[in-house]
Amino acid sequence: MSIIEEPQVDRFVPWFEGDVDPEKVPEKYRLSRAYVPKGRYLDPEFQKLELEKVFKKTWLMACRVEELASVGNYIEYEIGSYSILIVRESKTKISAYHNACRHRGTRLARGQGRVGSLICPFHGWRWNLDGSIRLVLDREEFVPRSDDDLGLEQVRVDQWAGFVFINMDPEAKPLLEYLDPIARIFEPFHIENMRYRWAKGFILPCNWKTALDGFLEAYHVAGTHPQLYRVDKTNLNLQSLKELDERIWAPTTVYERHSHYSAVGQTKKDATAESVKDPTARGTAEITDERLSIAMSVQYVAEDMRGLENELSWRAAEALKTAEVPEGSNAGEVYMQLHRDMAIAEGYDWPMLTGQQWAEAGTAWNVFPNTIILPNQGSVFVYRARPYGDDPDTCLFEIFSLDQIPVADYDKKREFQHQFFEDYRDADLGEVFGQDMANAKEVTVGMHSPSFDGHRLSEEQEMTIYNHHRVADRYLWAD
Ligand code: FES
Ligand SMILES: [Fe+2]
Repeated sequence: MSIIEEPQVDRFVPWFEGDVDPEKVPEKYRLSRAYVPKGRYLDPEFQKLELEKVFKKTWLMACRVEELASVGNYIEYEIGSYSILIVRESKTKISAYHNACRHRGTRLARGQGRVGSLICPFHGWRWNLDGSIRLVLDREEFVPRSDDDLGLEQVRVDQWAGFVFINMDPEAKPLLEYLDPIARIFEPFHIENMRYRWAKGFILPCNWKTALDGFLEAYHVAGTHPQLYRVDKTNLNLQSLKELDERIWAPTTVYERHSHYSAVGQTKKDATAESVKDPTARGTAEITDERLSIAMSVQYVAEDMRGLENELSWRAAEALKTAEVPEGSNAGEVYMQLHRDMAIAEGYDWPMLTGQQWAEAGTAWNVFPNTIILPNQGSVFVYRARPYGDDPDTCLFEIFSLDQIPVADYDKKREFQHQFFEDYRDADLGEVFGQDMANAKEVTVGMHSPSFDGHRLSEEQEMTIYNHHRVADRYLWAD
C-alpha cells in the first residue's frame, strides 16, 4: 500500500506577506505547488488582465539614458494599447507623458527623435518639453480651460543603472524600493557605465512570458545547448549520459518580487548548501587543461553570443591559455586577474568584487514583470518581452548587449539604433540564442495540445517561473 505524503507547502510554495489568497484567483488560473495552469499563457482574456493590472501598475524598463543624451531627445515606449513618450526635458531631468494630444487624442510622436517642442501632427497644438501647453491655435474659440488641464498627462519616471523606467500608476512606490534587492546587489557591476553594443528586437511566436521563461532557468542547458558543457563547444549529438551526469546545477532563488537563478559551477552532487556562483569556477566536462577550458568558454560566449563577454575578456582568455598558474591559485583566479589588469591598463573603472558580491549576483534575474538582466563585470545582457497586439501567442522580444566603457568616454554622446527583425532567423543571433528561440514555437504548439494542462516545474531549478506568476497574482486579483 502506498502512502501519500502531504505536500510540505511551507518549504516548497514561496509565500510572502501581501500575497493574495488563492481562493481569490479564478480556478483556471490558480497556481498550486510548482504548477502553473496553461491559461495564464494562452487565454487572450488573461493577457488583457495583465495589460490592465500588471503593466499599468509596475515599473517598466523603457530605455537607456544614453538614448536621451540631448535636451529634446524623445523615445516612445509602447505596451499593449499604451504609448508613452519619454523626453529629455533639461540637462538634469527626464520626463514621461502619455502620448496623446489633449485636443482630440492624436498620438503626438512615434519612435525616437529630437524636438524643440512637442507638436501635434493634426491641428498643431504645441507643448513645452516639460509638458506645459505652449500653443492652442485660436484658443479664444475654446471653452476656457486652465493650462493645467491642457498640459500633457505625466507618467512616473525614474532611473537606475542607466535604465529609464516608467510607471503608469501615480501611486506606485519609488523605483528603488520596487527593485529591492536588485539595486543593492547590482551596485558593484556599475551598469550605469555601460553602453549599448547592440540591441535587436524581433517577433516570436509565443507568449511574452514563454520568451522570458526560457532565460529564467539553466535547467534547459543539457537539452537545448549540449555544446556549452563541452570543451570543444561542438553540438554534434545529444548529451551522453556521462555528460548529463556532469552537468552544472543552477538553483533558483525567489524574493518578494524578483528572482534569479545561479549556475554554481558545480554538479548537484558536489554542490553544498553554501554553493553559489563563483566566477573562477567555469566547469567544462572532461577538462584536461583548466586554462584552456575557461578560455574556450569565455571565447565561445564572446564570439557566439556577442554579449556577457567581449573583446576585452576574449583577449584575457587568450592570455590565459599560456599563463602560469602559481601554486595555491587556479586558472579561474588567474583569468580574473588578467582581465582586471587589462581593464585597468585600458582605462576602465574595475573594482575588485568579493566572492559574496559574485554569489549574490547570480546568473540571471527576472526584474518583474518583463525584463531579465544577466550581470557580469564589463558586459551584461538585458532581455525584454512585451505582448504584441492582442494575440497571446505572439510577442516582441528584445536582446540588449551592453558593454562597460572606459572612464574617459563616460560623457561622450553617440547615436545608437536598435535593429528590428520580423523573424529572429534574420537577426544573426548565433548558435546559443538560435537554439533558445527555436524552443519558443515548440513550447507554444505543445501547450495548445488538449493533453497539456500546465507547467510542472522543478522546485529547485525553475521557481523563477513560478515566482513571476505568484507576484503577478498580487496585482491581478488584489481587489
Ligand atoms: S488632435 Fe492634436 S491638435 Fe487636434
Ligand atoms: Fe538557453
